[in-house]
Amino acid sequence: MKRLYGTIIFLFAFLIFAFFYTGHNETVAKNKIPKVGVLQLMSHPALDQINKGLDDTLKKHGYINGKNIKIEFQNAQGDQSNLRTISKQFVQDNVDVAVGIATPSVQSLKNATSTIPIVMGAVTDPKGFGIIPSNTKPGGNITGVSDQAPLDSQLKLIKEIMPDLKNIGIIYTSSDMSATTEMKKMKKIATKQGMNVSVSSISNVNDLDQVSTSLSQKVQAIFVPTDNTVASGMKLLSSIAAKRGVPVFPAATTMVSDGGLATYGLSQYELGEQTGEDVVKILRGKGKPATMPVTFIKKGHLILNEKQAQKLNITFPESVIKRAQKEGKIIK
Ligand code: TRP
Repeated sequence: MKRLYGTIIFLFAFLIFAFFYTGHNETVAKNKIPKVGVLQLMSHPALDQINKGLDDTLKKHGYINGKNIKIEFQNAQGDQSNLRTISKQFVQDNVDVAVGIATPSVQSLKNATSTIPIVMGAVTDPKGFGIIPSNTKPGGNITGVSDQAPLDSQLKLIKEIMPDLKNIGIIYTSSDMSATTEMKKMKKIATKQGMNVSVSSISNVNDLDQVSTSLSQKVQAIFVPTDNTVASGMKLLSSIAAKRGVPVFPAATTMVSDGGLATYGLSQYELGEQTGEDVVKILRGKGKPATMPVTFIKKGHLILNEKQAQKLNITFPESVIKRAQKEGKIIK
């Protein structure tokens, strides 16, 4: 009798154990497919390249969407209320990592959660914008990549191509924090070098036509910062300016492909790759945003638009062409 009781107790114990064990295993298996929410502010070639670099990097590390990772990609179409709705959705879905592509996306994610890890896919000045208290020790749930443009080298290049440049214009969007910061810096550097700087702001892409028409009557060249709105209207801007023989020098390489004349800038794809590396590190438990410093990519690429140069009747100096052939790209 005693032995029977013993067996029954053992069997029960085994069943209970088996029940919880398999049940537990199941939840672990479910949790094993990590979820990544990607919130892109809007579509323009630079942000699209960042997202591509991110996607490719996840793949490179063996994460196949739908198989061992769930990537929830959302484009806010430049709309503030979309940003809020999507951010809340990511929190509700309890994503393991949220990626914000461009500053407004990151700000919106930050407002939605202080616990879920957030990776910045290119925010120009995270500390300066009050997103994190320190770029080296972020301290909270946010880290990522900065796309700060090498403005000194950019102005140097502009002067190499146009040695007689005296009057330069800048167009930027007043609500765009990264554009505003870069506009101020560029204005300072150019003024210091003895140039006359005319600054014009737009509030949305519809202003671009009129503002670029009037600015290109006053200046010999236009510089545009990494400005989300200008980037999405770059083709329009460069064709209007070109009608008056005015070249547009952008801060981002992708904007040269859209009609800019030349720049020395960061590869947007590389920014995306670094964003992906940060995501993978967090997913694998190898790092926490609080102690992961923001990455600043130093190496730029020289991009020349030969087609645009011909339209504008501008010849690139031989030295610049040689450099681009060696370590950059010439669009023909
Ligand atoms: N720096 C921009 C921001 O913080 C985003 C951005 C990245 C961008 N690369 C760009 C904007 C190129 C224009 C062009 O919002």
